[in-house]
Amino acid sequence: MTTLLHIDSSARAGRAGEHPHGSQSRRLTHAFVSRWLAARPGDEVVYRDLGAMPPRPVHHEWIPSAFTPEPQRTPDQRAALRESDAMVRELKAADVVVIGLPMYNYGMPAPLKAWVDAIVRIAMTFDYDPGRANPYVPLLADRPRRAVLLTARGSHGFDAGGAQAALNHADTLLRDVLGFVGITDVHTIAVEHTEEGGATLDASVSDALERIDALAGAWL
Ligand SMILES: Cc1cc2nc3c(=O)[nH]c(=O)nc-3n(C[C@H](O)[C@H](O)[C@H](O)COP(=O)(O)O)c2cc1C
Repeated sequence: MTTLLHIDSSARAGRAGEHPHGSQSRRLTHAFVSRWLAARPGDEVVYRDLGAMPPRPVHHEWIPSAFTPEPQRTPDQRAALRESDAMVRELKAADVVVIGLPMYNYGMPAPLKAWVDAIVRIAMTFDYDPGRANPYVPLLADRPRRAVLLTARGSHGFDAGGAQAALNHADTLLRDVLGFVGITDVHTIAVEHTEEGGATLDASVSDALERIDALAGAWL
């Protein structure tokens, strides 16, 4: 059985195509997961809606707690890490990670950045070994995991080679962070022109849905 971790992070509640002000990234993640479950209804999907329930950002109790070895933590330190522990567990258990990623001010939404800060954890998702040329050891390289970043952008030209590629700090940053913890098989599929709408957006959505269908088909 394959386990999918399905993450949404749009502040918009509904899905585009079904709701007048719905989220394009939620539409894309739903398409990927539906396509997967249609072929493999017995697979497990763990869902985390960061847009609806933003994690607490890193705070002053979190940092010393994360850097205290687990057996020596106080009850308060364990409590400070509980939400982060749960998100790390979900990521470690996943074979396929499906992330809905709206571009906000050239980067990712704050709740998704809070998730990133929660899952990059010493001794859980990476280790530090000063004896190595690169001292950072990715702990999620222990078995194959894949990720697809399903991103929505109001403007256009943010993919490699595009006119605004240098301003894209959204899927590019997320890809680097996933690689840092050991998930290197990462794909991006984007819908662009979401603010423009009309036929240009429709064409971008159709193209993204076709690519999602093909990627899910290849991974199934
Ligand atoms: C706070 C905010 C910041 C945004 N910043 C950008 C941006 O930097 N570049 C861009 O192309 N679109 C930007 N947009 C437009 C969104 O990327 C677009 O609405 C996208 O569809 C959001 O994803 P969603 O439909 O899943 O919510 C921004 C939207 C919001 C709400």
